[in-house]
Amino acid sequence: MRNRQWVLAAHARGEVGPDCWTLVDSDIPTPGEGQILLRTQWLSVDPFMRGRLNQGAGLALGDVMIGGGVGQVVESRHPGWKAGDLVESPEIGWQEFAVITPDLPGASRANRINPADDEPQAALSWLGMPGLTAYFATMEIARPQPGDTVVVSAAGGAVGQLAGQIAKLAGARVVGIAGSEEKLEWCRRLGFDATIDYKKSPDLAEDVARLCPEGVNAFLDGTGGPIQDAVIKNLAPGARVAVVGRVAVANDVLDADVGPRLSAALIRTRALVQGFVVYDWWHRRDEALRRMKAWRTAGRLEFREDVVQGFESVPTAFVRMMRGENRGKQLIAL
Ligand SMILES: NC(=O)c1ccc[n+]([C@@H]2O[C@H](COP(=O)([O-])OP(=O)(O)OC[C@H]3O[C@@H](n4cnc5c(N)ncnc54)[C@H](OP(=O)(O)O)[C@@H]3O)[C@@H](O)[C@H]2O)c1
Repeated sequence: MRNRQWVLAAHARGEVGPDCWTLVDSDIPTPGEGQILLRTQWLSVDPFMRGRLNQGAGLALGDVMIGGGVGQVVESRHPGWKAGDLVESPEIGWQEFAVITPDLPGASRANRINPADDEPQAALSWLGMPGLTAYFATMEIARPQPGDTVVVSAAGGAVGQLAGQIAKLAGARVVGIAGSEEKLEWCRRLGFDATIDYKKSPDLAEDVARLCPEGVNAFLDGTGGPIQDAVIKNLAPGARVAVVGRVAVANDVLDADVGPRLSAALIRTRALVQGFVVYDWWHRRDEALRRMKAWRTAGRLEFREDVVQGFESVPTAFVRMMRGENRGKQLIAL
């Protein structure tokens, strides 16, 4: 048996197509002392990966594409792991077998999956990085209060669908922004109070103003770009803004991300704007997962995945997610 891998064939400029990667095969790697060999079962494609495709962002041509996944241990040379264990790791990469070093310093080299919690791929969705992002960006940065109006962008995706529900659980009124009626319909089914299709809106700032007449008390921003501009213009006094992602401008070269000057709105409202990186919160993972599992068990937290089949499909899955064609967390089942 061989190890099939998707390696970088070209650095990206602008929108990415599947020809950014090429399929190769190599020997199955051998774990050294303190390492485990995994067979990949699930892969996750995430918007942050787009940034890594730029020249100079750490990936050389021929490198295995980075990415998180779920695997089963096939050989262990680490005392804490045995063959058959299920592992979630952000370090698997787009390959069918991977060697992981669980004890290397870092927030999350190898996370044990408890099969009793949910299907294993949940460790890549509501019980994993997107879930923890939604939980901590909402609870610790946006900090919704009962009666607040909270806006969530990329609302129909992995993080957004959860963030909106968590804000609802905190007693807020939630407005979701996404790019299709199908996604907005899903948000409304989850309990979002109002929705905006940013692709159809003739004037986004005006639509936000209409749906948030008292202003936006908290904003979970997964997109940056024009949606961020429109919401910041409508902040309420004392608003909190969690800047979580910039998928709307991810295809642009960095210095092309120029928008209106928003300092007047920030001074007027005394808003707090804070950038967010999920791994800063990893030490509190257990607490967040306990809380989310309790909500889920009580039927108060819904989640949908969009599963594409087969290792051959990984690049296509990434491209469709970046184009907004995913309906929920984009995953690949191997
Ligand atoms: N900072 C962190 O630690 C952290 C962790 C996890 C995720 N994130 C960020 O959170 C955001 C959401 O991630 P996710 O995993 O939940 O992805 P997702 O929402 O499931 O999928 C990405 C979505 O981005 C939207 N999008 C693409 N191009 C856009 C554009 N030009 N303008 C507006 N929206 C656009 C699409 O939805 P539409 O159909 O609505 O366009 C697409 O479905 C991303 O920016 C990601 O990088 C950050």
